[in-house]
Amino acid sequence: MRIGNLDIDPPLILGPLAGLTDSPMRRICRRMGASLVWTEMVSAEGTIRESRRTFKFLDFAEEERPIVFQLFGANPESIAKATRILDGMGPDIIDLNAGCPAKKVVRSGSGSALMRDLGLMEEVVRAFLESTSRPGTVKIRSGWDEDSINAPEVAGLVEELGASAITIHPRTRAQGFTGRADWRLITEVKRSVEIPVIGNGDVRCADDAIRMIDMTGCDAVMIGRGAIGNPWIFREVRAAMTGAEPPTRPLLPERLKIAIEQLDLMVEMKGVRRGVHEMRKHIVAYLKGFAGASKLRAELVVIEDPEVVKSRMREALAELGESRDASVSEGDTQ
Ligand SMILES: Cc1cc2nc3c(=O)[nH]c(=O)nc-3n(C[C@H](O)[C@H](O)[C@H](O)COP(=O)(O)O)c2cc1C
Repeated sequence: MRIGNLDIDPPLILGPLAGLTDSPMRRICRRMGASLVWTEMVSAEGTIRESRRTFKFLDFAEEERPIVFQLFGANPESIAKATRILDGMGPDIIDLNAGCPAKKVVRSGSGSALMRDLGLMEEVVRAFLESTSRPGTVKIRSGWDEDSINAPEVAGLVEELGASAITIHPRTRAQGFTGRADWRLITEVKRSVEIPVIGNGDVRCADDAIRMIDMTGCDAVMIGRGAIGNPWIFREVRAAMTGAEPPTRPLLPERLKIAIEQLDLMVEMKGVRRGVHEMRKHIVAYLKGFAGASKLRAELVVIEDPEVVKSRMREALAELGESRDASVSEGDTQ
């Protein structure tokens, strides 16, 4: 897949997850085989205020490239200003969020609320695309609710305005994250535009990714929740996409080794306190599905000192040692 003049090969992407897909997670997922990574969304208003908190979400390392910055907002003027600021920070692509279902986001008309006001959507997307020299993309949902599904129409509009690609997570705003993503909408979006279509929603293993491409004809697969504590998913999907031998599932020692590496990166980037605290939800995910892990998990999430977290993890590894408990239980999904 090509977005602008970037080759995304194989077409396998780490999606944006607020509070999770920070620089350490993105670096690890890139190393594991993701071809493109997304920052979490930042608000146009926060960007214009040059809020330190906002800019922290956009810190990235060169090894993460190609990288997509994601912006949300509903005021065309603010969107234009914020896009220019983001453009100057050197991402490879900028994406506009038109899919977030969170109350505080849709209340201001941003995120998925744009899908029920196509007049405003047009103004916002136009302001956004006119303000960047880089490829601009848009991420959408199916529509606002079951009675107003309009993703194919929105995709057509976004293409006409000059977007370089579109991502669709086929759930309505009303669904939130419940039920199943309706991949038929990805097929419909793909049929309605010429620009690359990135399919997203409920991909939890290599088979899902291949099935999504086969069923929908989408140009790329984006994985979000399936990568939390499970960055190996990219190694597995990459192998399936390129016809390579399927890699073995990681055993606990490899999982803990990567979790320790991620913790080190978190502490280096965010400082001890924030690094350790923000790592906890990842640690819980890394240990999911392992026999005997619940005690270790409960212990690890109350420790404040990263060195103690690491030594406890190493001890646990030594205790498990050759034990058969150190294998992933069947059906270990996120
Ligand atoms: C905790 C969480 C945070 C998210 N944050 C964002 C975000 O900042 N921007 C965005 O476009 N989508 C966001 N999403 C949506 C995901 O990118 C993705 O579209 C959705 O989770 C479906 O894909 P998945 O089943 O692979 O996770 C978020 C989802 C979750 C669960």
